[in-house]
Amino acid sequence: MEADQVTTFAAFFIACSLIFSTCSSADENKGRHLHARFYRYSCPQAEKLANDVSRAAFDQDPTLAAALIRLFFHDCFVNGCDASILLDSTISGEPVEKISPANGKTLRGMKLIDEIKARIESECPRIVSCADILAFATRDATVFSGIPYYIIPGGRRDGLSSRAADVFGNLPIPSMPVDEMVEIFTKKGMTADEMVVLIGAHSIGRAQCSFFEDRIYNYSGTESPDPTMDEAYGYYLSVMCPPPNSDTAELAEDQGRRERLVNFDPSSPFKLDNAFYLRLLEGRTLLRSDQDMAEDPMTAEVVRRMAYEPRTWKKSFVRAMVRLSRVDVITGNAGEIRNNCRVVN
Ligand code: HEM
Ligand SMILES: *[C@@H]1O[C@H](CO)[C@@H](O)[C@H](O)[C@H]1NC(C)=O
Repeated sequence: MEADQVTTFAAFFIACSLIFSTCSSADENKGRHLHARFYRYSCPQAEKLANDVSRAAFDQDPTLAAALIRLFFHDCFVNGCDASILLDSTISGEPVEKISPANGKTLRGMKLIDEIKARIESECPRIVSCADILAFATRDATVFSGIPYYIIPGGRRDGLSSRAADVFGNLPIPSMPVDEMVEIFTKKGMTADEMVVLIGAHSIGRAQCSFFEDRIYNYSGTESPDPTMDEAYGYYLSVMCPPPNSDTAELAEDQGRRERLVNFDPSSPFKLDNAFYLRLLEGRTLLRSDQDMAEDPMTAEVVRRMAYEPRTWKKSFVRAMVRLSRVDVITGNAGEIRNNCRVVN
């Protein structure tokens, strides 16, 4: 056992110095107790099992990859990467994170996590946390979407609480100015540059019309389009999200209209790539918050770099994903290893 620990430590140390050039800065957000190949003795097949299940799911429904990455981001930014987003209920009976309006009605991917968890429990009962499963599956989602394989350290424990009330102020929303978004990232121990690098995740996935229709029809109450938006792109969006009809404004039909989904990057909706940053420079993106990053002095330079240096973006994206996976994690004996990702034990 002792030898194992020494090897594990050595493996971590090597991984740490080779892969994460900034292990000491990761200390700041308490991710230092995570280890590469954490389950190598207790459940060596864990990551392989997770990958088998998620790979099959992504092949069948490629939109799941984006859903999973968003789910992970929303978990990590509210009380850390502790799988609290997966809980359907807690002991206190309070409303849980996933029903917060800030999470919208479009969070998906929980079923996939349930499937992976069931698969792993059948071979290694009560060993692998839901938080690690979510982290591994998210890594696999990025790899499925074209990012080269990278190591995500393990050792996260599952949280015991999940409160909708904690979501407010911890998740960025599309109407936030850049400095407020940066402030949120800074609170999580992440930089403005890392925020810009991670927003490249918006090169896959979709958003509901309700998040950007004001930019097509009534920007800032002007009753005209957002002037920073490319005209042809604005026309395309008006076809995807038709204007509100005053006859149906109160009706379910209008609700359906607002909930339509549009791809962030229609030319490669399943490929994580830096084309997203080129789109920002051309005024062809859905969210005002993304567009603002191309203009704001705090972020504009990095947007430009990411647009013109695809390899730099890919490398930085991997590093930022690992950093995200360490945000406010609980380790050691804190929390628990949930039996079922939807309820505390
Ligand atoms: C920084 C400010 C951010 C804002 C304001 C923001 C906002 C949004 C919004 C409004 C949507 C559409 C949701 C819907 O209609 O269902 C969305 C989707 C998405 N976001 Fe973000 N986001 C941000 C950062 C991030 C980060 C850092 C990541 C990844 C690490 C991320 C990953 C995603 C993904 C993958 C989707 C697509 C989800 C799907 O297709 O199911 N976002 N985001
Ligand atoms: C445009 O937005 C403003 C303020 O946000 C609102 O007062 C106005 O009624 C809107 N116009 C239309 C046509 O919806």
